[in-house]
Amino acid sequence: MTQTTLEVTAGAGYPVVVDADCWQQLPQRLQHMGLTGRVHIVADQQLQAIASELQQHCGAHATLLCLPGGEASKDMQTLMRIYDHLLTARVERRDIVVALGGGVIGDVAGFAAATVLRGIACVQMPSTLLAMVDSAVGGKTGINHPLGKNMIGAFHQPRLVLADVRLLDTLPAREVAAGWAEAIKHGVIRDEELFARIEQADPHTAFRQPALVRQAVAVKVEVVNIDEREQAERMLLNYGHTLGHAIEQLLGYGVLLHGEAVAIGMHGEAMLAVAHQLCAPDVVDRQAQVLARYGLPTQLPAGVSAEALIEVMHRDKKVQAGKIRWALPRRIGHAEIVTDVPLETVRAVLNRLQLA
Ligand SMILES: NC(=O)c1ccc[n+]([C@@H]2O[C@H](COP(=O)([O-])OP(=O)(O)OC[C@H]3O[C@@H](n4cnc5c(N)ncnc54)[C@H](O)[C@@H]3O)[C@@H](O)[C@H]2O)c1
Ligand SMILES: [Zn+2]
Repeated sequence: MTQTTLEVTAGAGYPVVVDADCWQQLPQRLQHMGLTGRVHIVADQQLQAIASELQQHCGAHATLLCLPGGEASKDMQTLMRIYDHLLTARVERRDIVVALGGGVIGDVAGFAAATVLRGIACVQMPSTLLAMVDSAVGGKTGINHPLGKNMIGAFHQPRLVLADVRLLDTLPAREVAAGWAEAIKHGVIRDEELFARIEQADPHTAFRQPALVRQAVAVKVEVVNIDEREQAERMLLNYGHTLGHAIEQLLGYGVLLHGEAVAIGMHGEAMLAVAHQLCAPDVVDRQAQVLARYGLPTQLPAGVSAEALIEVMHRDKKVQAGKIRWALPRRIGHAEIVTDVPLETVRAVLNRLQLA
């Protein structure tokens, strides 16, 4: 194991490589791991040029299917296009699906790999910061249903995650910022040093530092590894999301990027932690400063009321016996699950968040 590699222990275990200029290593790494079947690359069409080159590296029998990214692609029709492609190419059990793209391509191509021929090997090559820091690791795959996001899916751990930060050079700045929201979240819940390094980095170029991105990915890897023993730990990743998901739902998907909704959610939930006397007020200030530096919002959008948010949050699947399970910071670098926050406290904080 080199320094560039993290290790997930879930399932059969797999390496998570985060580096610069590493995407060309795919064929050698597959060979080294004994994955000698044909490679089927399912790529975001934004990465068409790299995907074609990668196909050539992977031998004469490798296939390529390019698809549009974006949430609309996480549907049955896209899934069927992938099945059509794989079955027409006479996919075999020993073949490998390589998902080259953001969280959308990773989720839908990962689900195709989980289900075609009852499951074949999958490699995740994330091309957005969000996919690197969050979705490529952990084995959750799936598509949306008209009745809800991520409603159809399967756990299917990849055999390898190969994250090349060079791929981020073409990613729009707003998408980069949305990825930082999740990385900052990882700092707050589990790694103060990561948080401090993000604070000190230049927001315009920080995504080019493999070591920094790797440290953010490491938190997801650790939580996935611990989670084998303890369910609660994974819930800490939900920090900013209880409120963030409710905001997304009320505004309608596509108005804010997921990471932007999470940033507002983190601000609100940190304020809640202060109001509930779990942490000191400087946590909110420090976090708000770094979110703003990275171009992320902290204020509730107009038209989203405290009452509507409370109603949506109580409908959420994480609510048990009418109590919302919050992941809240005690300080930067440590969060806890809290279930006894009074409704009045939540209401007061949400009203302040609107004026913030
Ligand atoms: N499986 C999980 O555990 C998990 C975790 C978090 C999020 N997700 C899912 O991830 C999805 C969001 O992922 P995302 O934010 O990466 O969205 P995405 O895959 O739609 O990518 C965002 C946009 O960037 C474009 N793009 C991707 N890579 C690019 C590049 N290198 N250069 C230029 N453009 C590029 C895409 O075409 C798209 O328009 C959601 O569907 C969410 O549910 C899954
Ligand atoms: Zn998220």
